[in-house]
Amino acid sequence: MLDQYGMQRIQAFYPLRKGQLMTIHPSSCMKTTPWQPDPDHTVSFLEFYAKQNVIPVKQDLTDLARHFARRDYLYRTLGLVPQFLRGRSVIEFGPGTGDNAVYTNHLQPGLYHLVDGNPASLSAIRHKIDHGQLSRNCTLINANFIEYECDQQFDLVICEGCIPGQRVPGEVLKRLGRFCAPGGMLITTTSSAVSYLAETCRQLCYPAIAMASSNFDEQVNIAASLFGKHLAFFQCSTRSIEDWVTDNILFHWYGVNGADFFSIPDALHAMDDAFRFHASSPRFFRDLRWYKTVDGNDPVNALVLEEYWAFLPALLDCRVDKEVIVANGQSADLAKNRQIDHICQEISTIRSRIIATLSYDPLDEVIVLLDQLGRLLPPVMRQTCAGMADFAVGIRQVAEGRLQPQPFNAFCNWWGRGQQYLSLIKNTH
Ligand SMILES: C[S@@+](CC[C@H](N)C(=O)[O-])C[C@H]1O[C@@H](n2cnc3c(N)ncnc32)[C@H](O)[C@@H]1O
Repeated sequence: MLDQYGMQRIQAFYPLRKGQLMTIHPSSCMKTTPWQPDPDHTVSFLEFYAKQNVIPVKQDLTDLARHFARRDYLYRTLGLVPQFLRGRSVIEFGPGTGDNAVYTNHLQPGLYHLVDGNPASLSAIRHKIDHGQLSRNCTLINANFIEYECDQQFDLVICEGCIPGQRVPGEVLKRLGRFCAPGGMLITTTSSAVSYLAETCRQLCYPAIAMASSNFDEQVNIAASLFGKHLAFFQCSTRSIEDWVTDNILFHWYGVNGADFFSIPDALHAMDDAFRFHASSPRFFRDLRWYKTVDGNDPVNALVLEEYWAFLPALLDCRVDKEVIVANGQSADLAKNRQIDHICQEISTIRSRIIATLSYDPLDEVIVLLDQLGRLLPPVMRQTCAGMADFAVGIRQVAEGRLQPQPFNAFCNWWGRGQQYLSLIKNTH
């Protein structure tokens, strides 16, 4: 039987040599050459969602007022006064189920285009238009936005949850930026190896899940039972466990050159010529400048990048407050924070290799790197270190095929600040 990577799967676990963790592909498939990300193995959103006929981003809209309150807070945090959207033109790329669009539509933009290339998304949105949840003025466009063309420019361009995961995310974002009118706003999302480290660790359960069943629905059930306790941490979660595991555990992509994240620095670098930073969620940028000192050449993007590196450890664990890190002096140690970033990237690369080869052989490397990472964190992050230590115990059991809900203990409550939001303003010159 060939899996999605074209590798032969075996049906049983191999006994281990001392010190070796586990290999779950037959020796005939073992790669002796170092693993390189293969562009032909990259799977984009559109391909994965279309293949499985899923759109795993459904929000719980039973309490619409709460949904609207959350979106209202997000927009305000991004520096967008919700009422100011009335009569404006908006284009949203990758609206998914359109649940977030229901809020944007209720602000009564004059023009609202929704562009998605996934049949399941298109039918979910069409259903909302037919049932009055989205206005009939919304224009639904079936297109791969890498190829989409349109002469118009819009006051607001939304690309939420759909840029990291493209093969060349910076190029795609730049392309979508062309649809923004000068002086208009673009909202996008970012993620980094640091903000996703906790999820990266969870993804390491994938080979064992894939070995337990090759049936997609069964894999969803196994992963949902494995991570149910983890997701219970988010009492305010608005997504089903099944959607979350589909999107985060069963879907993997490796961008060109193995780049599977698109961080705030990546976004700013990609857009630097044409856009300037406006705001972010979470907010981390403190700007104490007197406005009269800022002339036409506002270096805001460079200032944001400086603050980003100071803020970085707070991306690793959503329980950690930036102020606490600052108080511990961590923000001053930018070299250490760059090391933290580097280690997280290394772990992500090994994760990709473990998933691509379905072999737990490199698991020890991950555990050594986590140990090094723990030593770089300030004492205030002891909960994070406890989470990493319990992960190291639990993942060895998972790698041995013990897929009952594991005693992951403190790992269950370790979550990073996975996805961040950015708002950017398009330069007028
Ligand atoms: C993870 S979902 C995000 C949905 C929603 N924006 C949210 O944040 O909940 C990504 C969406 O982008 C769409 N998408 C991704 N890449 C695309 C592409 N190249 N062309 C068109 N749609 C794409 C997918 O079909 C999906 O609906």
